[in-house]
Amino acid sequence: LVAQKADKENVKVFAVGGFIRDLLLNIKNHDLDLVVEPAAIPFAEELNKMLGGRLTSHEKFGTASIVLPEGIHIDLVTSRQEFYARPAALPEVEQSSLKNDLFRRDFTINTLACSLNSPGFGKLIDLFNGIGDLEKGLIRVLYNLSFVEDPLRVLRAIRFEQRFGFRLEETTLSLMENAAQTRVLEKVSKERLHDELVLALQEEKAPEILIRYFTLNIAPMIFPGIRLSDALQERLFAAREMCYWANRNWPDTEVVPGNLYLAALLLEAPFQEARHICRRLRLPQKQREPILAAVEAVPRLKEKLLANALKPSELYRLFSGQPVETLLLLQADSKQSRIWESTALYWEKLRHIQPHISGHDLRELGFKPGPGFQEVLSHIRAARLNGEVKNREEELAMAKK
Ligand code: CTP
Repeated sequence: LVAQKADKENVKVFAVGGFIRDLLLNIKNHDLDLVVEPAAIPFAEELNKMLGGRLTSHEKFGTASIVLPEGIHIDLVTSRQEFYARPAALPEVEQSSLKNDLFRRDFTINTLACSLNSPGFGKLIDLFNGIGDLEKGLIRVLYNLSFVEDPLRVLRAIRFEQRFGFRLEETTLSLMENAAQTRVLEKVSKERLHDELVLALQEEKAPEILIRYFTLNIAPMIFPGIRLSDALQERLFAAREMCYWANRNWPDTEVVPGNLYLAALLLEAPFQEARHICRRLRLPQKQREPILAAVEAVPRLKEKLLANALKPSELYRLFSGQPVETLLLLQADSKQSRIWESTALYWEKLRHIQPHISGHDLRELGFKPGPGFQEVLSHIRAARLNGEVKNREEELAMAKK
């Protein structure tokens, strides 16, 4: 459809970047990046009339994006105008303008382009040996100042390295080491750093990516004060296992793996530090709260659980109000079967148990409404949890006592 529209509107359109890379790697990609000549916005408007998505344009940058209901994103950028002075540009001129566009990009594997116009539809354009690097499995920058120009690319390189199981090409690696040494990452805005971290934490290989941040000495700029211990590595891998396990066993519970990875990391830091790092990373409160709750609670809960076998009512009291992150982090942090059994028992069973009787029943029994109500009901719930009362009648009898 895009190609048909491009021909009809008489504009040159190339699909570029990650979409083509993933096509060649046989990986699904729902983000289509297009380079459009002479202008992206009018073409995006025409295209969207046909697609009926949500269109956003940025006049200043000559870019537009269309989001389709099926979750497909189309990003359109205008090819650099100055290279398109001649209307009937020769192929070499077209290539040199596209080349200029692609040369600004991060890695060779992201510079592949594909013409969408006919004739020549589907023609692969590989100006920087992206295919060679895809075949060899190499992440390679296009120019030496790439990481200085955009230090966030250091993290992108690691994300792609781990996602595809590729290697960092030698010069690229040494430029990255240099970037780590000169702490260029500190120049990146906290918001961009946050957005990249969100992407990294969504990756299947997120634990490996985080570990790589440490081994390449980038972690101090993201998680200052945290050191990579054996325990931390184990905990990160265990956190991934716990996410799989929870998805299988607790299908109704939403588990955000990234939250668990961050909690697993921050467990290494004193609580105040952990809180500080969360703020630095611009984590929204909704994410910060369960992470910090888990970090704060896990050492205390672990100690209590391992010290004594607890009654169900005691487990309930211990875990009550804790987010799922706390339970999974406890499991990831300790292989003890008692921890495993207690957390599973609480999450699957105990937390759902309520007394049969209610405040209404207490009023009928002559209790005066007030804070005492909750106390009596909690007491009855504890008795129910421990199997000391089994039905409504026994609960009423207990309330009377
Ligand atoms: N890009 C870049 N430098 C950055 C970010 C992006 O050069 N700091 C370029 C890359 O060439 C990339 C393109 O912009 O291919 C689009 O960026 P993005 O959508 O983030 O990258 P994808 O390669 O599509 O990665 P992903 O598969 O994670 O979506």
